[in-house]
Parts: sequence; C-alpha cells; structure tokens
Amino acid sequence: MFERLRGTRDFLPNEMAARKKVFSSIKKTIEEFGFFETDTPAIELFELYSIKSGEEIIEELYAFEDKGGRMISLRPELTPSVVRVLVSRAKELSFPAKWYSIPRLWRYERPQSGRLREFYQLNIDIFGSEDPRADIEVISCAIKLLCDLGFDESDIEVRISDRRMLQEFLLNLGIENYFDVLKIIDKREKISEKDFNEMLIGINLNNDQIKEIEIFLNSKGNFLSSIDALSKSYKGEGVSRIIESLKKIAQDLNDRGYENFVTFDPSIVRGLDYYTGMVFEVHDRKREFRALFGGGRYDNLAELFGGEHIPAVGFGMGDAVLELMMRRKNIWPEEKVQIDIFIATIGNVEREVTKALTSLRGSGFKVDFDIMNRNLSNQIKFADKLGANYLLIIGERDLKEGNVTLRELKSGSETKISYNKFISSPSSHLTKVL
Ligand code: HAM
Repeated sequence: MFERLRGTRDFLPNEMAARKKVFSSIKKTIEEFGFFETDTPAIELFELYSIKSGEEIIEELYAFEDKGGRMISLRPELTPSVVRVLVSRAKELSFPAKWYSIPRLWRYERPQSGRLREFYQLNIDIFGSEDPRADIEVISCAIKLLCDLGFDESDIEVRISDRRMLQEFLLNLGIENYFDVLKIIDKREKISEKDFNEMLIGINLNNDQIKEIEIFLNSKGNFLSSIDALSKSYKGEGVSRIIESLKKIAQDLNDRGYENFVTFDPSIVRGLDYYTGMVFEVHDRKREFRALFGGGRYDNLAELFGGEHIPAVGFGMGDAVLELMMRRKNIWPEEKVQIDIFIATIGNVEREVTKALTSLRGSGFKVDFDIMNRNLSNQIKFADKLGANYLLIIGERDLKEGNVTLRELKSGSETKISYNKFISSPSSHLTKVL
C-alpha cells in the first residue's frame, strides 16, 4: 500500500463536490467584477522564479532537470506565469486586462495548518492600469467574494499598507538598505521582539532608528484616519502622492460599505520581492490561522521579464486556510453526490438496458446501472447509497409483457409502465427529477 505524499490531499467525490461548490461561488463573484478566466502550464522554466519571486519561494521550489537538460519547476505561484504570458502576448491584448485563475500550486514547505505542499490558489489580477481604482477593484473583489461565501466584518480583516510609504519612511530615518529591513519586518509576526531587534541591529540600524520603526509599525488603525494622520506627519512630494492614492482607496472602500473590513497596517510588507506599492493581506479576526490572502501592486515585473511597462495589481488566496475558516464558521458545504436513476436488472436484459441508458442519458439524466451482477436487493441497496431518486427495474419476465417497473426510492411507490413508452419519452415519467 502506498501513502500519499505529505502536504498533499485526496478528494473523494463528496469532498470534491463541496470544493467545486465553493469555487463556483468564488468564480461567480469574480466574473461579476468583469474578470475572465485564464490558465497556464503547471511547469515553467526555473529562471521565471529566480528573477524576482524572492529567496523564500526559491528554497521551496519543486525543481528538476528535464531530459533536455533544462531546469524546470512546478509552479509555486501564478504571478510570474501570467506576467510571462502578458509580455509575450501584449500586442494582441486590450488593457486593462482583468484575469483570474484557480491553479494548483506546489511549494516544498513544512506542512502545517493552512500550509500544504500542494494547494489551489485563486489569483486575480488587473494589468495595464496604475490608477488606484484598479487597487480598489481588487480589494473590493476580495471582500465581496468572502461575503458571498458567508463571512462578514466580524470574521475577517483586510490589512493594507504601501511599500513606498515604508521606503520613504526609512529614507527619512537615513536608512537606505530598504530591502534588508523589509525582509526582517516581514518576519516580525513570527519571531520574538528581541529577535526582531537583534536582526535590525545585525543590519547596522541604531536604537533610535529601531524605536522609530517600532512606532511606525504599530501605527495601525482605521484606514482613512490613519492616512489622514500620516499626511500630517510626513511631507514631501513623493509621500504626498502615495498618501493621495491611499486616501482614494480608503475613501472608495468606505463608499462601498467596506470601512469595517479594512485597516491600515504598516507592518504588512509581504515576502515576495516584486511588490512595488500598495500591499495587503487578509486574516481571520481572531488570528487563529495563517494569512488567507496576500497581494498588492507589482508595476515592474513585466519590464523585468523583457516586456513593456505594464502596471499590475492582484492577489492570491489559498483554498487551505479558506476551508479551515469556513469550517470554523460552519459554512463549508456538506455535499452529497447523487444520480437521478439507477437501472436494476433481473435476468438477461442487457440490450434493453443499453437502449434505456441511451434514451435516459440523451434526455440529460444522470444514470447508472448494475455492472456487478448483484442480486436485486443488493442492487437496490447500492442505488440507495448512490442517492438515486428513481430505480428502474428491467426484468426478463416483465419484459415478456412489454413492461418495466419504476420505483421512487424515497417513498417506495412503484408503477409498472410500458418499456417502449418509457424509453421513447422518459421525462414524462420522471417528475421527481425534473
Ligand atoms: P503568497 O502570499 O505567497 O502570494 O500566497 C497567497 C496565499 O496563498 C496565502 O495567503 C495563502 O492563502 C496561500 N498559500 C501560500 N502558500 C501556501 C501553502 N504552502 N499552502 C496553502 N496555501 C498557501 C502569492 O502567491 C502571490 N503570487 C499572490 C499575488 C497574485 N500577488 C499578486 N497577484
């Protein structure tokens, strides 16, 4: 017997049906926002990730050399793939392009609650617009799809920040190694305060600078009022442009009724290297689980991939944390797969079964039949297990008189009907299914 690999999952039919239901609710919301579905290969060249995804992702790659001697990797995230497509097909596209996709991804992480080695990740991205309205659309879509799944503001918190704000703030403190600081801030929630301070000292920051950074990172609060407060403390042309766009995002999210979902939180910086502006994460309010969403603006990736300047903003949401959060709130669907009709047989009636199957399936019913040579009572038990609404019994003896028996499984009520009439117009006999 083989075990499945750690950090991977098998989905039996009912489990798969539940996941499909959740995904179709998500797709419905996203399509209402005008996004179109795309797909890309599960394998890509290793270099696609080494350019700008960051060390953490590189360490987790499922990478291998193929038979042609190329370094290949299973995709650990979708963003580099969609940007690759965008750059190579830019001429045939109209902008803004609003794309979504729910790929399977692979990361060699330590499996833990909400973090697996193989998972689905919803991605939505808007390409071609620098306007904060693109950021607003993306964040609103994230909130709306969670609301449509049954969450509300008491369950989730959208923590928004801006990397440019952090960069300006650090420059004001005379700190130029922005990326080194960013990496440490990204780890802050997972390490102790002492370790955090020591890491900052390790990259030559002094105590005053560290104190200022702490104050800045803790200035979390209502999105719009925090931005107002920042605009009073930080001046300068660069800063005021960033504040202006954040203000627009905050104002519009309030107008859409999302004020209580969003918080301004400068400690959000995101681990991936390619983000250039607004960044955000979605967490459960009680902070029981890891981040549910992560995303932001990444305006330079298309150029880094050899294309033109194509600004971009989007997010990724994994299905693992989503399932944990939905189960905690009792809104993960319990699905039971079922068929409409099961055909049970007595004696040698194979040709009649084939005709009945063709007719029923041709009329759009979900139909199954016995291929195990079970006796009638075991066939009925199996039909019950399949959740069939109807049982059609085709028996050698009844057929001699041209009849078959139709049983409604729940009530047990039975009628004898003409086989020929039934297969010429099955819908008129199967009212319960229709
Ligand atoms: P990320 O923060 O690496 O961003 O992942 C986004 C989300 O994917 C996480 O918040 C989590 O829900 C899920 N996720 C990540 N790793 C795992 C894992 N090992 N197991 C289960 N779920 C996981 C990105 O991937 C960016 N490319 C998102 C993006 C799209 N940014 C712009 N567009």
